[in-house]
Amino acid sequence: MTRVVAIVPAAGKGLRLGGGVPKALRLLGGRPLLVHAVEALRRATLVDDIVVAAPAAEVALAAELLGPSVRVVEGGAERVDSCRLALEAAPAAVDVVLVHDAARALTPSALIDAVAAAVLAGAPAVIPVVAVTDTVREVDPTGRVVRTPDRSLLRAVQTPQGFHRDVLARAYALEGLLVTDDAGMVEALGVEVTTVPGHGDAFKVTTPADLILAEALLAARNAAPTRASPGTGPPRLEKGSDVVFEEGKLFQEGNARG
Ligand code: CTP
Ligand code: MG
Repeated sequence: MTRVVAIVPAAGKGLRLGGGVPKALRLLGGRPLLVHAVEALRRATLVDDIVVAAPAAEVALAAELLGPSVRVVEGGAERVDSCRLALEAAPAAVDVVLVHDAARALTPSALIDAVAAAVLAGAPAVIPVVAVTDTVREVDPTGRVVRTPDRSLLRAVQTPQGFHRDVLARAYALEGLLVTDDAGMVEALGVEVTTVPGHGDAFKVTTPADLILAEALLAARNAAPTRASPGTGPPRLEKGSDVVFEEGKLFQEGNARG
């Protein structure tokens, strides 16, 4: 049977987030970002193995946090080096690889499964994408606008990105590529890259504002009832709906006062 490994680059310094510890160890709801990301991978039904690339000084701590079912290796200087090292440590029997940033801590497991399913169905390279909300302009080095691409054709790219193992290994063997993600390298090989719909919750925690957003999202997830509970006061709404309910209440109270 085809085996799926998720490799998790988590060896970055997190300079833009700050805080004096590697980003993967920054806490979200009291637990490291890395633990959230790995738990989502564990909840995904199509992921068989997980390999994490951690900062050199944190390999032992990461291994302790994640338990014996997760392999933890030392990462490298750049993200691509960390990915390469993690892929080398993946079990030999694996033929589908998902590459997933530790910093995308709240990625839904359903998205992870959707990417894995598309690769298992035969696509050599699959990326989750979302529509771009800002207008994007291309500028020259002096800042002068050169071009305004049609926004309806632009997509922001998330992780996990999924690949046939041999395709990704060939991409990592290329030297000196100036690309910012794994699919960019695969594209350079001339391999077709296909897309699946991404998810807003799969955003990358990069700046302090992103961490605040992640805390709010996690709190909303934890507060949302997962089922209706009749007989305990006013009817509870389904998961995800109670925020609207509260806002509605506030609005009515405001009206009553006005
Ligand atoms: N990463 C890695 N090894 C590196 C650099 C980055 O494994 N040498 C990982 C990060 O840990 C993160 C993911 O790649 O999960 C995406 O990178 P990014 O968001 O840039 O994280 P950092 O490099 O840690 O942050 P910064 O660039 O702000 O220092
Ligand atoms: Mg970085």
